Amino acid sequence: MRLTADEEAMLDGKEGRAVQRAMELLVQYGDALGAERLVDTNNVCGANVFSPAPGLPKFESHDQIFSQMSLDSDETFEIPHVKAYSCQLIGRMDARHWRLQEIEQETHDLIAESESYNAAHGIQLMNTCTPYQVGNVPVKGEHCAWMESSAVVYINSVLGARTNVEGRESTAAAMLTGKIPYWGYHLHEQRAGTHYVDVQFPVQDFMDWGILGYYVGKMVGDKVPVLDHVNSTPNLSQLKHFGAAASTSGGVELYHIPGITAEARTVEEAFQGHPIQARFSFGQQERLQVYEELNSTARDPHVDLVMLGCPHANIQQIWEICNLLDGKTVHSNTELWIFTPHPIRELADRNGYTKIMENAGAVLMSDTCPAIGRFLPKGTKVIATDSAKQVHYLPAIMKVQGWFGSTKDCVNAAITGRWTGGIS
Ligand code: F3S
Repeated sequence: MRLTADEEAMLDGKEGRAVQRAMELLVQYGDALGAERLVDTNNVCGANVFSPAPGLPKFESHDQIFSQMSLDSDETFEIPHVKAYSCQLIGRMDARHWRLQEIEQETHDLIAESESYNAAHGIQLMNTCTPYQVGNVPVKGEHCAWMESSAVVYINSVLGARTNVEGRESTAAAMLTGKIPYWGYHLHEQRAGTHYVDVQFPVQDFMDWGILGYYVGKMVGDKVPVLDHVNSTPNLSQLKHFGAAASTSGGVELYHIPGITAEARTVEEAFQGHPIQARFSFGQQERLQVYEELNSTARDPHVDLVMLGCPHANIQQIWEICNLLDGKTVHSNTELWIFTPHPIRELADRNGYTKIMENAGAVLMSDTCPAIGRFLPKGTKVIATDSAKQVHYLPAIMKVQGWFGSTKDCVNAAITGRWTGGIS
């Protein structure tokens, strides 16, 4: 790779061993990708907060944890303040409800210490998979280095920012250097559409956007779909659900809905003059098939846990859930857990929504989710969720049955303790 003078200086160790190691990693990574150069970035989202797990060694210091786990080095460096604007993504522990997660005091203290260490190094503790909902909203064309597939597909597509799905090491290296390989979705030509999706069913609600996303991901894999004939303007929650589902069933990191998402006003513009590799159409039959597939692990109608907020819910969704609860209470055999970023939980506290949920017997959680934190209420065998991503992962990871449906059907299951959801 061609390096600039400041990059050469970092590689030569002029800014210390940690930055030197970070540059070594980026050069190796860029070479492996075939990148010609690095690009400046001042917007990085990664995951450096440490949480103990079986099989991990005992560390002597947080510098050692960062060196080993984030910079892949046996040598312990003194980690400097980050150079790029950097944010921590979702982690394992809810700072308010960690006891409910059955996290032990020692583990809690270690995670809290690691958070303080990261904050002291300049990393913003956003602790969510949706930093774009709590203030980190990249602009069109901004070069970023983000982990978390659901966030990447959102900022690439809806906002027109530029990032690939990065990993822990590459984001840590980007934090310390302000650089990332100039490759993949950083390049204009790589952002051209490849597959055409004719949306024949009028997709309008949250559930249908998730179903459409899951369908698109299955059909295009990791390519760039272009959706035509979308007959409504989706809101943030719907696009968030769509992208998360498409990146789960496939590996979609970028899509275009001409006239709605950031980069293409027309189908022609989305394809940038390249040939269309394949065409699909999404109608009622495809919609019903995907709904069945998403419900394929579920048999028992008795629901132990209803999980909402994947990706993390925004305040509009929390308000809607409170309206659906409407003074009713959660069934004695069922839990209702809703996940949101902690700044939105603060807002929910002030608006009285947390209290409404607590009075109903629900819990508003933040900083984590069951798939990342690997936790469920004791004895959970059946879950229900309005998230295509969560129902894809939880049955596989936690060996539970999973119902998928609308937010209304999920809240109803929480109140009655039974799944009666459906699709028409
Ligand atoms: Fe976020 Fe966890 Fe879903 S990371 S996207 S809430 S699986």
